Amino acid sequence: MQTSIGENISLARTFLEKGEVVAVPTETVYGLAANALDPEAVIRIFEAKQRPQFNPLIVHCKNWETAMHYTERVPEIAHRLAKAFTPGPITFLLYKKSTIPDLVTAGSDKVAIRIPKHPLTQALMEQLSFPLAAPSANQFGYISPTTARHVYDSLNGKISYILDGGESEIGLESTIIGFDDEENILLYRSGGIAIEALEEVAGKKILPSQKNDENKPQTAGQLASHYAPGIPLYLGDIETLHNRFSDKKMALISLDNPYSHLSFLHRYTLSASGNLHEAARNLFSTMRLADRSGVDVILAEKMPEVGLGIAINDRLNRAQVIFK
Ligand code: TXA
Ligand code: MG
Repeated sequence: MQTSIGENISLARTFLEKGEVVAVPTETVYGLAANALDPEAVIRIFEAKQRPQFNPLIVHCKNWETAMHYTERVPEIAHRLAKAFTPGPITFLLYKKSTIPDLVTAGSDKVAIRIPKHPLTQALMEQLSFPLAAPSANQFGYISPTTARHVYDSLNGKISYILDGGESEIGLESTIIGFDDEENILLYRSGGIAIEALEEVAGKKILPSQKNDENKPQTAGQLASHYAPGIPLYLGDIETLHNRFSDKKMALISLDNPYSHLSFLHRYTLSASGNLHEAARNLFSTMRLADRSGVDVILAEKMPEVGLGIAINDRLNRAQVIFK
């Protein structure tokens, strides 16, 4: 299969209407999209991505009203958060109607709903009569793509078309939340919207979701090893790690401190001004660069545990080599 890249919305639409898979830009990361209401089209996503089918997909709708056609028993607090944060980098776990195939939710009675903000994908969805199921457009387990080129690098030959919308503005996947029967808000994955911002609008604390609770399937965001580069990445105190790997070729990923007194083959600072939004936007491209930089190990610094720093640390933590 020949993979082309372009900005042609009608071409993307034609492929999608034929039940094919198209990579689309979103403000978080690129998605690998297909008709969410057509199980045969959805199967093609799992094939292209080599993703296990027990892993459910987010359903992308053009607006909240449309999303309400596919969901039920939506709590009041969800409406309120949607009003404040959609379109945008947030995903809601809501009870699904039967029009959403079980394949999309991996058998769960809840569907993940997101309203992406990217203008090109918004314009595309305007022209479609169905919502788009889409995971991040990377090979399963690898770093999520934030440019059309990233998508091409991992899915060339496996999909027909990549809709090129430039670099993703947020650079981290969406924040995923769900609700219990008491209208508590549960966090399933930290992401592009800061927890503090959600709590401010909700007027209450967001609770951690229980792993292995009845709310199966688990989100892949909860799998320990994910978003992983091929070269071992270690997260922690840079001086200590540098000592430990002094005989190896090292790359550094830090927020703004270049650690100039230590020697590195490559140094990547995520934001010279220490801005966590900028750092989030640069994170995945930087991880890809470091992964190809010819070093033996990547040393990453922990971000401050506030705002988007929480989600960045989560991704770095999951990309790292876990000691048993
Ligand atoms: O920003 C994003 O969320 C991007 C863009 C493309 O929208 N999408 C994304 O999709 O990150 P993916 O598939 O890489 O991650 C979605 C996560 C997975 O961990 C999946 O298990 C979880 O959402 N998920 C999807 N549907 C679910 C469901 N019904 N119940 C529980 N978890 C679900
Ligand atoms: Mg993913």
